Amino acid sequence: MFQSAAKTLSVATTTAATLTRGTSFSIRRYCQKTPATLRVSEAVSGAKLGANVKVQGWVRSVRPQKANLFLHVNDGSSLQSLQVVASSELDDPLLTLGSAVEVTGTLRKSPRQRQPFELEADRIHVVGDCDPVDFPFKIKERHSLEYIRQFPHLRCRTNAFSSLLRIRSEATTAVHSYFKENGFVQIHTPVITSNDCEGAGELFQVEPSSPNNEEGEKFFSVPAFLTVSGQLHLEVMSGAFSRVYTFGPTFRAENSQSRRHLAEFYMVEAEVSFTQSLEDLTKVMEDMFRSATEHVLAHCAEDVDLFHKHVTPGHRDTVDAMLKNRFPVLTYSEAIDILNQSSQKFAFPTDWGCDLQTEHEKHLVKHCGNIPVFVTDYPYDLKPFYARDNLDHPEHTAAAVDLLVPGVGELCGGSLREERLDLLKARLGEAGLEDTYSWYLDLRRFGSVPHGGFGMGFERFLQCILGVDNIKDVIAFPRFSHSCPL
Ligand code: 4AD
Repeated sequence: MFQSAAKTLSVATTTAATLTRGTSFSIRRYCQKTPATLRVSEAVSGAKLGANVKVQGWVRSVRPQKANLFLHVNDGSSLQSLQVVASSELDDPLLTLGSAVEVTGTLRKSPRQRQPFELEADRIHVVGDCDPVDFPFKIKERHSLEYIRQFPHLRCRTNAFSSLLRIRSEATTAVHSYFKENGFVQIHTPVITSNDCEGAGELFQVEPSSPNNEEGEKFFSVPAFLTVSGQLHLEVMSGAFSRVYTFGPTFRAENSQSRRHLAEFYMVEAEVSFTQSLEDLTKVMEDMFRSATEHVLAHCAEDVDLFHKHVTPGHRDTVDAMLKNRFPVLTYSEAIDILNQSSQKFAFPTDWGCDLQTEHEKHLVKHCGNIPVFVTDYPYDLKPFYARDNLDHPEHTAAAVDLLVPGVGELCGGSLREERLDLLKARLGEAGLEDTYSWYLDLRRFGSVPHGGFGMGFERFLQCILGVDNIKDVIAFPRFSHSCPL
């Protein structure tokens, strides 16, 4: 049987083999069994030891020696690459860092200490070559996150970024598992919406790229936007489901170049009905944080280690401290006192009534021993219309809570929702929003219950557990003002 594989190099098990570079082909025994295709993660753990197998992936290193050629091949399934050992007859100039290959051979125990198993190749097929001069990554160099960020279309080929993407994928599973195990129903809240939940005016408007009729009539008849939060849609559901959550893309037209803001980010949001106090929410926030972090540490140990050892050395201690201690709770008023008693000079004011800025949040976290801290009961006027009025507090506050974490500042924001029709109506009326939110008022008319919820920025969660300084390094394709490549 002839294989018309261009750029195939092969030895052994063939009745004849022509090893002409680039265009060679092999003649294999007619009755030979097709080798099983193994993922690199399976091969490096010794699955199918002694069997003839095929592995497909991208070359992460090439080391030609006198008699042998050593390659490392990775297919994204694990941080570890598979060591391939081949006769130097199989060497080829097309085998370079970044080239795509298909290797067939026998999986065996490795005599070398660094990896227990290796593939003894009898055939290497270069599926796609890669010019090593133009390729922006170099063998043996540990490129910084800043450097690889310049290549959003190629950075998944580096160890650090492929680790990040596996961690992100596993953290997604962890979040869903937490909610499933705790009886929450997932709701797919819409990406296109007609409300500005946060009232901050950071909306991207959605319109067809070309008018759909000559009169220029709006597609949705009303102004429509990309969602800034799924909260109000979750609140609809919390009139029938006592525990719901959503996890999806969220958009904010924030003209910010900061290390913790994106124009498109992922938010995890939960809504709980029949709440009695903010503690019902802080418990879910803390439990979810712990459960997702522990899941990631357990299921992505090697990938997380790469970050904690090489990218953000020393950060593991911070993570361990976060998991060891219960999260303290401060009221906003106590937080203001702490800031005012500090010897640190802040750029932003710290008077009662001021919004907490990142510098304040980071100070409060340090003050509490560099572990996550809840701040509750913010000034009423700082919070959106839906936040519940703490009528019994001497100062005018709302039952709102933020979770502040090391290195990042605000990770979660949440509140009890104003379930009392008269109070909600009055607040919406003051803002001239009573008609816009007539459906929201209906929720309070028909079987309203005390309820509340929160949102957690998923990228900020990853920053927090990995110690990554810039939010653009924890998302595959970061979008921010003046930047939307690809
Ligand atoms: O505090 P926020 O604005 O709260 C809400 O949107 C509520 N409606 C959520 C709810 O109660 N269901 O946003 C929640 C979290 C923030 O704490 C932050 O972690 C993250 O979302 N976040 C951002 N992350 C990245 N880039 C941005 N531009 C972000 N804006 C908010």
